[in-house]
Amino acid sequence: MSLLQNRSADQVIFVDVLEDNMNNLTNRLGQDFPRDKNNWQVRCEDLKNIIVPACDSQLFIIAGVGPHQTIEFINSLCASAPDIAFDLLVCSVHGNYSVRQALIDEGYKLKNERIIFENNRFYEAIYASKNASKVIVDTGSQMWCWSDPEHKDYWHRVVAHYQQKAKKDPLQFEPIVSRYEALRDSIA
Ligand SMILES: C[S@@+](CC[C@H](N)C(=O)[O-])C[C@H]1O[C@@H](n2cnc3c(N)ncnc32)[C@H](O)[C@@H]1O
Repeated sequence: MSLLQNRSADQVIFVDVLEDNMNNLTNRLGQDFPRDKNNWQVRCEDLKNIIVPACDSQLFIIAGVGPHQTIEFINSLCASAPDIAFDLLVCSVHGNYSVRQALIDEGYKLKNERIIFENNRFYEAIYASKNASKVIVDTGSQMWCWSDPEHKDYWHRVVAHYQQKAKKDPLQFEPIVSRYEALRDSIA
């Protein structure tokens, strides 16, 4: 909605599978952003069925789902239109290491990234594009501000999360713990 409010995009398309939520959203948008003055669409469908259209300058925002689904969405959008470049703004719930790897595997580069703390939860917002020049680092790079106590807290939570997973599956998760430890050691 803030994209519409700020006139940041020519068109904003909202996608979710929940019919009731999307009907409520349609009503709210109709009141706050009349269709004759704003270009928006509400689509009640599975994101995995979306085919990326052949347009210039488009951004897909994937927010509020876990890493498994986020990666499925990234891969299905890319597979739907392998020759069309589009930007992604990804804000997954947990598991950003694997999300970052999926972005790297699809050939994405970093435009910007930020740690967000909201309602006692941390998120990483990763803004990626195939037309950017900075590499995406699996543990995050420019978003870390080590003098910020919240970022230190986030680092501890991430390491604890992967240490917990490493207890069950050390082969997969111990290397990830080591990557985060190396990141901290490189700053210290
Ligand atoms: C926690 S909510 C986040 C909603 C919103 N994206 C946000 O960030 O505020 C997760 C949403 O993902 C939607 N969702 C899950 N799987 C989906 C899919 N395959 N296609 C579209 N939406 C999906 C759910 O219906 C749910 O509304």
